[in-house]
Amino acid sequence: MSNLAVLGLQWGDEGKGKLIDLAAEHYDIVVRCQGGNNAGHTVQVGEDVYKLSLVPSGILWPGKTAVVGNGVVVNPVAMVREIDSLRAAGVQVDTNLLISNRAHVVFPYHPLIERSSEDSPGRRRIGTTSRGIGPCYEDKAARRGIRVAELLSRDHFARRFRANAEERSTVAAALGVGEPWDVEAALAEYQECAERLRPFVTDTSKFLNDSIRQGRRLLFEGAQATMLDVDFGTYPYLTSSNASAGGLCTGSGVSPRLLHDIAGVAKAYATRVGEGPFATEIRGSAGEALRAAGNEYGTVTGRPRRCGWFDIPLLRYAHAINHLSTLFITKLDVLDYLDRIPVCTGYRYKGAPLDWMPAISEEYEQVEAVYEELPGWNRPTRGVTSFEDLPSAARNYIGFLEDRLDVEIGGVSTGPERDETIVREGSALDRLTSPQPT
Ligand code: GDP
Ligand code: IMO
Ligand code: MG
Repeated sequence: MSNLAVLGLQWGDEGKGKLIDLAAEHYDIVVRCQGGNNAGHTVQVGEDVYKLSLVPSGILWPGKTAVVGNGVVVNPVAMVREIDSLRAAGVQVDTNLLISNRAHVVFPYHPLIERSSEDSPGRRRIGTTSRGIGPCYEDKAARRGIRVAELLSRDHFARRFRANAEERSTVAAALGVGEPWDVEAALAEYQECAERLRPFVTDTSKFLNDSIRQGRRLLFEGAQATMLDVDFGTYPYLTSSNASAGGLCTGSGVSPRLLHDIAGVAKAYATRVGEGPFATEIRGSAGEALRAAGNEYGTVTGRPRRCGWFDIPLLRYAHAINHLSTLFITKLDVLDYLDRIPVCTGYRYKGAPLDWMPAISEEYEQVEAVYEELPGWNRPTRGVTSFEDLPSAARNYIGFLEDRLDVEIGGVSTGPERDETIVREGSALDRLTSPQPT
């Protein structure tokens, strides 16, 4: 039995959904550990495109169990909507979905409070997804949050919800977002959703640990990414959960001793949605060209993603934090149109080289990216499935990254579809995306 986690290494949207989908065939259980419906994971199977926010992408494979772990923040209305739309698309969602009774619930006052802090002149705007994720995690840490188990206890929930709604609405009003909202209508809606979700709710940490004991294989589905991790990302321009390796354990109840491998996912360039430092950002028309080539618009909010070049110091940092077993590089085909491709190989701060990520965003804003230029290949790579069939300049590009990062690049994605993928024979990624040896 060996378990695998798939984690984003940049600022999200690296193509985690694609690798999860690819790997899931060989695992029994796919588990989400953090984040909420701020995530948007795209899986393309032939003509069908699935965009998953709360439900783990493994749901798309028949016979697998998808688990929403305790570290996830669940908006029940969004969850019910997602289940309905998956069913409408012909995906089975019944006993194959489990939701943790310990997961915290996102309420209508969370986005309200979020908006007040985003709009407040004295606060740094983060450019969040406006899903109330931050305020929900605030409530969790402040020990006033309401968990899924409580949502299912009708009278108890009504009492707690009314009390919290009154108290949080007062806070929102004090912060200048005094717009009235119908507490009783929201209560009724949540109670209705609770009944819809009841069959899925269980103690998922028990289920996961029992399953491990029975020899079942787990795949952990990361959401967001290392540079959005609340501790290791570009604070405060990040999300409110631990999106790097540490969050896998606290968000699932599975011991670190049972996390065997970690596959990191990075784009062949870089993107970010929302505010915050971005050392390799490309401004002007060159950035727009990359955005157009990569169709870089947010899955959740539709916002244009900021685009930049591949950043080796950032990836080295992410590798150190996560200790990757292998690296999967996505969207190589997007670079097909370029004659020359800059790669950031180092940082300088106030004239001196920097070999680690600054803790303060204002410092990171001032970091200068040092580039080396590599020749482009100017040929289509879309759909290539073997490393040897890539143009030699594309092989060199991957080889250059591998060399500088000192981690195996086990696979390369050459298109959004399931089979537009290279998995290098004999690599750790090959082993991890193959049937378990008996
Ligand atoms: P995630 O949040 O990490 O799962 O990534 P998203 O789904 O938000 O964004 C990745 C986008 O890139 C999706 O629209 C994918 O369909 C698409 N994609 C993934 N891999 C490739 C690739 O190799 N080439 C191209 N052109 N698109 C890709
Ligand atoms: P996936 O899982 C990209 C970003 C937001 C914002 C910051 C905080 O699809 O990679 P939040 O709503 O979480 O408080 O927003 O984090 N962000 C993401 N960016 N992909 C995501 O998820 C993201 N989830 C949050 O744009 O900058
Ligand atoms: Mg995404």
